[in-house]
Amino acid sequence: MNIVVVGAGTMGSGIAYSSAASGHAVTVIEQDQKLLDQGMKRVDDYVQRNLTRGHINKEQASQIHAKIRGSTDFAKACSDADLVVEAVFEDPGIKEKVFSTLDRVCPRSTILASNTSSISISKIASATKRPEKVLGLHFFNPVPTMKLVELIKGERTSPDSVKAATSFVETLGKTVVQSADRTGFIVNRALMPFINESVKLLEENVATRDDIDKAFLLGTNHPMGPLKLADFIGIDVVLSTLKVLETEFGEMFAPTPLLEKMVKEGKLGRKTKSGFYDY
Ligand SMILES: NC(=O)c1ccc[n+]([C@@H]2O[C@H](COP(=O)([O-])OP(=O)(O)OC[C@H]3O[C@@H](n4cnc5c(N)ncnc54)[C@H](O)[C@@H]3O)[C@@H](O)[C@H]2O)c1
Repeated sequence: MNIVVVGAGTMGSGIAYSSAASGHAVTVIEQDQKLLDQGMKRVDDYVQRNLTRGHINKEQASQIHAKIRGSTDFAKACSDADLVVEAVFEDPGIKEKVFSTLDRVCPRSTILASNTSSISISKIASATKRPEKVLGLHFFNPVPTMKLVELIKGERTSPDSVKAATSFVETLGKTVVQSADRTGFIVNRALMPFINESVKLLEENVATRDDIDKAFLLGTNHPMGPLKLADFIGIDVVLSTLKVLETEFGEMFAPTPLLEKMVKEGKLGRKTKSGFYDY
């Protein structure tokens, strides 16, 4: 398939890599040449990492490189797109503008997917004249490793679009679960309050950090305890996701004060080398 990925940040670079590694022709779009160069470097980092770890060989690495090109020109990049995955900033205004542009420059048959974590798919679809071809494909970070994609149907998404998007995801070796267009979908709706409650256990001195994580490793067979997982996701991401859920569903999602404090102190988890753990 001809795949276009809009936005080559954390998620877009992973989606581009995974798509090219599965044999699709990929065009990555960024806002300007400098951001495009940075985005292509992120994609290349995935290639190098997978090469070093022995997941791909040199020949496969050069095949992946050959499958990916970059562009700053929406019209040119989208002229023969089968499916576009949008992974720009989590901002409704920016996403609606991108979808309105995509609708204008893509062939009528192109499916338009958003990787949004929290914005309504129906709202995004309303920026286009093809709401039946718009849906959510919510990938998980890091994309090449994580096997799940949540597929979100908007009010007017057609069964054919769902089928085509599901087939695409399966070519990446990933599995689709379907969720209605409700904030947090499946995973974040249940995971974020779980992490929040785990942080409260620490805050209220109910248990130590290590015992909280150990409890879920050994008591529920989780591969990683909730505090370590929060560090991995990013404390800032956990905080902002809880705030979005709180706005939608009320107080039971209100982030606990320790999360606010950690973000103010710049303890964002692995990416700042300091969170619930030091790295
Ligand atoms: N980071 C995560 O763990 C995660 C997980 C699942 C979903 N998401 C969602 O994925 C999307 C992207 O998140 P991210 O973490 O990759 O963000 P990011 O900030 O790392 O990357 C966003 C990229 O989009 C580019 N961009 C912005 N506007 C653009 C435009 N008009 N045209 C082309 N490119 C544009 C930016 O230059 C940037 O490189 C968001 O909707 C986010 O909610 C993120």
